[in-house]
Amino acid sequence: MRLIIYTGKGGVGKTSVSAATALKCARLGYRTIVMSTDSAHSLADSLDLELSGEVRKIEKNLDAIEVDVLYEMEHRWKEIEKYFSDFMESQGLDPISAKEMAVFPGMELMSALFYVEDFYKEGKYDVVVMDTAPTADTMRLLSFPEVGDYYFDKFYRIMRNMVKLARATVGKFMSTPLPSNELMDDLEHIRDRLKFVREILQNPETTSIRLVMNPERMVINETKRAFTYLSLYNLTVEAIVINRLIPENLYSRYPKEKISEQDRYMDMIHESFGEVKQLKGYLFTTEVLGKDSLTVLGDMVFGKDDPSQIYSTEKSMIIYREKGQDIISLKLPYTEKSEVELYKSNDVLIVRVGWYKRSVSLPYALVKKQTSKAEFKNGRLLVYFEEVKDDAKSKKAE
Ligand SMILES: Nc1ncnc2c1ncn2[C@@H]1O[C@H](COP(=O)(O)OP(=O)(O)OP(=O)(O)O)[C@@H](O)[C@H]1O
Ligand SMILES: [Mg+2]
Repeated sequence: MRLIIYTGKGGVGKTSVSAATALKCARLGYRTIVMSTDSAHSLADSLDLELSGEVRKIEKNLDAIEVDVLYEMEHRWKEIEKYFSDFMESQGLDPISAKEMAVFPGMELMSALFYVEDFYKEGKYDVVVMDTAPTADTMRLLSFPEVGDYYFDKFYRIMRNMVKLARATVGKFMSTPLPSNELMDDLEHIRDRLKFVREILQNPETTSIRLVMNPERMVINETKRAFTYLSLYNLTVEAIVINRLIPENLYSRYPKEKISEQDRYMDMIHESFGEVKQLKGYLFTTEVLGKDSLTVLGDMVFGKDDPSQIYSTEKSMIIYREKGQDIISLKLPYTEKSEVELYKSNDVLIVRVGWYKRSVSLPYALVKKQTSKAEFKNGRLLVYFEEVKDDAKSKKAE
């Protein structure tokens, strides 16, 4: 099973590209499902069909679902929902608001990941295409299996012991409900499932993250940050989709400045995402709605390619810690140490190797550190970071 996750800033074309990918895969004969995990669903609009929180067949080889958190609450998160709404009610919230409050952000994506787990185990689909909410939320959630594990392990044990103790003692007199054994079992079950989901997400033979963007400065900057955080959480960004490009045959219709701006932003994209496979979608004169338009978009983006192919299993950027040192490892089109120049200013690291330039948005933990050295190893450039000893904010190193 292949899992292809499209993410990116708001409005860049994630839903359109997801639907286009799924259609193309289905027509190539793959058993495909496209899932929307954005609570502000627009997959149905994009496909120009009715969709719901239940899997629906929309054409041969193609199913679709808009994950509906209220439906999931009733089926999948029953115990959790009950506990949270009881808890909120005990705090004086009216029952309707209590029910609403029990839905926490990102539950759609989490539910979707559990669907993916089911599909994986059942072998029901060859390709699962996931359309997500705009970046920040998705990022937090995609990192959840990684970070969540840690919290679960720590807090789950504490909570279980506390609940046991409380139930035997103060629990009898408290107005705040205590989590039931069923809830604790549910949480434990979720923890196990998250582990499995993480394995799926982190396996580049199965999961590919594709970042959708437009040639616009703010979009590129946000996407660059997303790229960094995905790398930090050990996920593989396997391709980027640059959507809404002005096609060359229409250049004459646009002011010169617009075209040179697009050229500049294409350079910026190249500097920011390096060797990651670039897929391109061009600007339509009308909205991209309905299967016919989506078919055109799919052909534009993938040409004769099979959209479910794995463009790369190798991570373009890896961020890790080894022997107390933080390291950013970048795949560069060079294999030996030639003139490497590093510039760091605030949250951006710029790497120059001859004419080649890479610009990396730094994760928060590295912003306050300085670069100490760089070396080429197995076709990758490793940049080492250390604590700042003086207050030099930027450092040039070789
Ligand atoms: N290449 C294109 N040319 C013209 N219009 C496009 C193109 N791609 C997408 N659109 C249109 O842009 C709008 C936003 O697209 P879409 O819903 O796919 O973006 P999104 O990233 O999913 O947005 P959101 O963050 O709100 O979920 C839609 O009206 C869509 O039809
Ligand atoms: Mg969308």
